[in-house]
Amino acid sequence: MTDTNIPSASSRGPNREWSAVLPPESLGALPRMLSGDEQRYLIWLTESRYEGWGAVVDLGCWLGSSSACLAEGLARSGKQGRVHSFDLFRWDPSYMERDSSLRLAYGADFMPEFLRLTLPWKERIQAQQADLFEFQWRGGPIEILFVDAAKTWGLTNAILRNFGPAIDPGRTRVVFQDFRYPQTMWLPLLTGSRPDLWTEVENTADGYTSTWMVNRSLHGPGGIGGDYGPESFDFVTASRILEERERIDPAGRSLYTQTRLRAALMYGEDADVSAARSMVEALNCPEHERTPTWILEDIASDLVPLAWNAIGAGDATRAVVIAMRCLRSRCPAPFALGPLGLALSRLRRHEEAESRLLQMREQLPDRPEPLIYLADVKSAQGPSHDALKLLEQALAALPGDSGNGDYVFALLERIASQPGGARPSLQVAESAKPEMLADPKIRGRLERIRARS
Ligand SMILES: C[S@@+](CC[C@H](N)C(=O)[O-])C[C@H]1O[C@@H](n2cnc3c(N)ncnc32)[C@H](O)[C@@H]1O
Repeated sequence: MTDTNIPSASSRGPNREWSAVLPPESLGALPRMLSGDEQRYLIWLTESRYEGWGAVVDLGCWLGSSSACLAEGLARSGKQGRVHSFDLFRWDPSYMERDSSLRLAYGADFMPEFLRLTLPWKERIQAQQADLFEFQWRGGPIEILFVDAAKTWGLTNAILRNFGPAIDPGRTRVVFQDFRYPQTMWLPLLTGSRPDLWTEVENTADGYTSTWMVNRSLHGPGGIGGDYGPESFDFVTASRILEERERIDPAGRSLYTQTRLRAALMYGEDADVSAARSMVEALNCPEHERTPTWILEDIASDLVPLAWNAIGAGDATRAVVIAMRCLRSRCPAPFALGPLGLALSRLRRHEEAESRLLQMREQLPDRPEPLIYLADVKSAQGPSHDALKLLEQALAALPGDSGNGDYVFALLERIASQPGGARPSLQVAESAKPEMLADPKIRGRLERIRARS
């Protein structure tokens, strides 16, 4: 099929053929994270659009609501075919208990519950436990790829990499369940930044779902050309795409307005943040379309690694800029204070550095990281008794196999090389847990400290 044959959602308007679909009563027994319209859409999709030339795949099937809808549609179509349902099947109470009365321990296997709940569709569903970061699809062309697991930049990249080759240009429907959700901002950005590659074919009247086709192979010439990450976009591009979405997808308008605030926090100037915040505050939308501030403004998980990367690349100025962006958020970001403090210290702004790290220690009183960063900043300025005390406390708090062990020992080595630092440094080093000292790299550092004392 050529580009021009792909039906487009905007040219079709909001006429949603699935609005009259009647879901089966049995579906009511399943906990779900999908809206009613999303469920009707999935039933319609496999009932009315499935042709049978490729697989139906459900990525992130949880307790089975999406799989059951897709299976129900397949059964109604009378065609052969099964839903291939993938999930980690590991329970995470932090978000799963919101939508289910099931109470399992963190990490518990919930596949048995999935199988029990989807029993009425068992002939039509094949469930498989898989980590989508790793799993490579080898099941031939995919006709319908329902994606409800694109929860991070990394997972989205892995899904595009591992399932992308089975996407047939102009034929496969890629259903992004999280498309309008502000926290998965990369979905509208990755499609909107490449209108030559992606065409929207449907979206739902409520919920977050938007369905796309690709105009050519994702991984061939003119394809996506690599992984996406927070640095793939900028504020001008993000705003343009999100404003455009507000215009062409009115059902998602309030969600895109909220996404624009997230984009402003990630990429914009202070004035952009204020303007975007005012627009969010002025929204007159139903409560369920409002993303709680602690989710909407939580940008630290994206930006803190970038700030550390900037420090690693020797660009302390950029690290400060990135870390300061986290502090504009109304969602506390204590971990941004770490790279901020260290970057300020690299810029010789020692007082500010210490004050940021003391703030971090106040906000994270039980964590060893602020102690280590403070010791780093203090010992960079010369021999420091305070730094040794902090490292002693950090060693007492760190588990024996902590990745931070080597960092602590590097600082002890630094202090050991300073006048009068060798003996007290050795004393602290010897207080480390035996498991930590079993690491050959750390042992090597200990030997060098010993040799100096
Ligand atoms: C929002 S829930 C899906 C809801 C479900 N589609 C429904 O209709 O109710 C997201 C699912 O993605 C799964 N998931 C998250 N990370 C994953 C990974 N790395 N590999 C496989 N599944 C993953 C989670 O276990 C969870 O069940």
